[in-house]
Amino acid sequence: MTAVLVRAYRSEDLDAVRNVFVRAIRESAIRDYSPAQTDAWSGVDRPDAWSSAVDDRLIWVAVADELVVGFTDLEPSGHLDRMYVHPQHEGRGVASALLTCLEATARRQGLTRLFTEASITAKPFFERRGFKVLTAQVVEHRGEKFTNFQMEKFLNERPPPI
Ligand SMILES: CC(C)(COP(=O)(O)OP(=O)(O)OC[C@H]1O[C@@H](n2cnc3c(N)ncnc32)[C@H](O)[C@@H]1OP(=O)(O)O)[C@@H](O)C(=O)NCCC(=O)NCCS
Repeated sequence: MTAVLVRAYRSEDLDAVRNVFVRAIRESAIRDYSPAQTDAWSGVDRPDAWSSAVDDRLIWVAVADELVVGFTDLEPSGHLDRMYVHPQHEGRGVASALLTCLEATARRQGLTRLFTEASITAKPFFERRGFKVLTAQVVEHRGEKFTNFQMEKFLNERPPPI
């Protein structure tokens, strides 16, 4: 398998990150959400499909064969907003590699708790990596209703054996 490198996001990654975002939703999350929902979520036909907010958070990209294959981010509060992996690179530990980097940084910053709103698609991944479900919720986005899960992980807990 091709090695995956995780590094900090750079401005020139924006198009590649947008592409990962749209494809992950339209080809992976489509397993759990309707076409109308995935259209709304990925913002197809909208130039602002992926919010380019970069200044208020740390962002990491996973790179394989010099291509961006995944990304994640961390806000100062411990909120993990986005975790997306290109569908052709799913199931190979890309999200895990991203989360390992994110957690190492969070620990260095003194954060003790990470939290996120996980999609139905991502919930098993986060559970496997030690997050616990707090509650299921329904949120509205561009006129569509989505079930997702508030999840949290305390960083002082030992990670589960892999
Ligand atoms: C969820 C997602 C980020 C996982 O990325 P990934 O790179 O495939 O995850 P990994 O390969 O690192 O998986 C790590 C572990 O989680 C498990 N896992 C991941 N997705 C899973 C799923 N859908 N069902 C069951 N287990 C899953 C893997 O089996 C693996 O377990 P293991 O350590 O026992 O082998 C990716 O599928 C994705 O981008 N999904 C669509 C977008 C999305 O919903 N993003 C989240 C928005 S909140």
